[in-house]
Parts: sequence; C-alpha cells; structure tokens
Amino acid sequence: MDPAALVTGYGSPLYVYRLEAVREALDDLRHALPGPTALYYSLKANPHPVLARELRLGGCLAEISSPGELSAAVEAGFAGKDCLYTGPAKTEHEIALAVVAGVRRFSVESPADYRRVGRVAAQHRVTAGCLARVTTAAVGPSGLRMGAGASPSQFGTSAAELASAPDRFAAIEGARVIGMHFFPVSNACDEDALLAEFTHSIRTAAELSERAGIPVSAVDLGGGFAAPYARSGQRPVYTRLSTVLAAELDARLPGWRHGHPEIAFESGRYLAAECGTLVCTVAEVKQNSGTTFVLLDSGINHLGGMSGLGRLLRPSVTPEPLHGPSPEKDAQRVAVTGPLCTPADMLGHNVPGGGLAGGDLVTIPNVGAYGLTASLLGFLSRPMPAEVVVKDGRVVSASQLELSRRPAPCAGSPTGECPSPEMKQRSS
Ligand SMILES: Cc1ncc(COP(=O)(O)O)c(C=O)c1O
Repeated sequence: MDPAALVTGYGSPLYVYRLEAVREALDDLRHALPGPTALYYSLKANPHPVLARELRLGGCLAEISSPGELSAAVEAGFAGKDCLYTGPAKTEHEIALAVVAGVRRFSVESPADYRRVGRVAAQHRVTAGCLARVTTAAVGPSGLRMGAGASPSQFGTSAAELASAPDRFAAIEGARVIGMHFFPVSNACDEDALLAEFTHSIRTAAELSERAGIPVSAVDLGGGFAAPYARSGQRPVYTRLSTVLAAELDARLPGWRHGHPEIAFESGRYLAAECGTLVCTVAEVKQNSGTTFVLLDSGINHLGGMSGLGRLLRPSVTPEPLHGPSPEKDAQRVAVTGPLCTPADMLGHNVPGGGLAGGDLVTIPNVGAYGLTASLLGFLSRPMPAEVVVKDGRVVSASQLELSRRPAPCAGSPTGECPSPEMKQRSS
C-alpha cells in the first residue's frame, strides 16, 4: 500500500506492518530449523495482537514476560497452555495473573524464582512445569550476549552452579522442573555463531541431565536469529542449522525426534523485523556549524529509545526518500534527529541523506521488531503514532495506543486508594 496514502489517513509518523512479511519470515525460519521442534514467538519484539495472531495461526507458541505481553497473547488467541512465561524478576502478582490465564510453563531464573512460581501455583492448586534457565559461557563472537559472557548477568543460573546444587531445583509443592531454558544471545552475528551457541547449549543440557540429574523432558534452546534494524537489508538465510542441529540432537539427546525431549526455539526480531516500516516526515533540513541536520517528526520517543539512552545498539537510520533512491542521497552525509529536546534524540550520525527537504516523507525500514515497543513511549507527552496492518493491499487493522494518566494506587493503604491532599493536610 502507498505509505503516502496511509499517512494521509492516519497521520505522520506512522508504523506500517505488512502481515505477509510476518508469514514469509515464519516460513523461512521453520524451514531453517530441524523438525519436529516448537517455535515460540517472543512478544517482546512486538506485542501487536494482529501480528501475534498471524504467528499463532502459522503454528507458533508464545513467549511472554510481562502482564502486558500476557494480555496481548490472550488477545491474539493463544491459550495459556501455549505460553511460556520468562523473565528475571517475576512478581507473585504477575505469576498469579499468568496462572489464572492458564499458563503452566515458566522459565525460572533462580531457586527463589522457582519457589515463587511454586508458591503461587500451589495457591491456585495447580502445578507449574518449569524450565531452569541456564547461562553458559561465551563460545565465541556472538551478538547481544544475555549472560555469563565477559561479565556476569542477572539472567538464569550458571551451568556450574546448577550442577553443584541441583537439589535447589528439586520438585516442590506447586512446581517441578521438567527441563532447561537457554537464551545466550540475541541477534547473533552469523550462522557460525548461532551454531556454536546451540551446540554448546545442547551439550550442556545433556551433561546437566547425566551428571546432575536435571530433568530433560523439554529443552528450549532459545534463539538469536538475526534481522536488520532500522536500515535496509534482509534477514539472513540459514542453510546449515537444520542438518547440523539434527545431528547434534541425535548424538546428545536421542529421542528428540519423538518429543523426548521436546525441543523448542524462540524468535522475536527474525519474525517481526522486516514487516515494519516507520513512515515519517522531514520537519526541516538545516545547517549548523558545518553539519546538515535532517529533523524528523519522529525520534527516540518512537524508535529505539533504549539506544537513544546510550544503552544497547544505537540505531543508524538512513532516511529513505519515499519515492525511491536519489543520487543526491548518497552524496551528502547528514545527521538525522527527532523532535525531542535532548541531544540523545539522534537517530543517525553521518549517514547518507542528501536531497531531502522539509515536508518530504521518508521511510525507516525493518522496524517491526523493537520499534515502537522499545521506544520511550511517554517521553515529552507526544502523541502516539497509529499502527496499521495491511494485507492484500487493504488495511485490516488500525489502532493507536493511548497513554492516559491515572492516580497511582497508594502502596501501604488497605484499599489501594490515596487519601485526598486536603485529608493529608488535616491529619498532619
Ligand atoms: C529469553 C528471551 N527470549 C527471546 C528473546 C527475543 O530475542 P530476539 O528478538 O532477538 O529473537 C529475548 C531477547 O532478549 C530473550 O531474552
């Protein structure tokens, strides 16, 4: 669909998600993975229920890690039994919400996390099947490492600690460990790096089962499948994963072909990145101290906010003129900034961007994953972009998140209500 027409209808800036691209990515990833294995869609990449529903219909399960992602999964039609609840700091409240929604599978990141899940499940008279999250040492250059790399992280329990005290994960009332969860890396740099991590995880699972008696009815090997972010390009095609991993599984965890253990993978960005484009408008092009600045109506409040704060990967946005590449674009280097009053609101530094003028529409591709979701939504109280989903040239969903202010519940008050300011003054 013509982005200019969508902007006329829904305003600028605008996130556009192409539903067909989600299915294409799913087909590619399924093709790359050994079968029979399960694939979880990680809603943290993009919890939009229409996207998540498409992936459910394509056979994905849901990996969720917050009450918001739980609601999105439910709205997308996932049954609780098809969700895996993960995350390092789960509260009893959120565990209870998940249990009530029918979630029975949890990744547990520490013995205390395991006991918390067990306590809440027991209160609801159910038993949770838990995967002990295991962190492994780095096996080479990877991508965004999630733990036990150069420095320790808050994620999981190290394989060595698990092996030395497996009884901390023995069955308790309300929970039992049925297997292991690995997620060592996100956005792996290439197929070799992915293969090295998966192979290492498979070997670690087999060793922990043999030496420490950790059950292996289910092994979630995580992911790390890569995708370009906020720049043009295509997700990688993995040609060796399926055969190499099948051989490794045959050798270390025989029985996996019959579901003993069940093997699962997880993916967010590979499945969602390419479907999303952020369309925005050049507010102004200006020169300052010898640098050309392209000021957009969208910045780190709508895209890559965590990067804007100096955390994680900084996006390097090259604004693509809506009506195709122009020779001037590559010739001139510019700084691409957003509308916020902070120097951190820099989307691209020294990137090609000549030939643009105020009022031009530009597109930022491959932002279906970690786009609006990973941004500073409430920063500067600016309105939300709408999100539209298109299929077969038609808008099939148009919605807009709304942030509204409401009184915060008062911690420590039995009713959760805060006394009014006058009452506070009178009583003090
Ligand atoms: C436990 C877990 N699962 C899944 C993901 C999704 O990763 P990606 O979007 O790179 O596939 C992450 C990302 O940090 C994660 O920590």
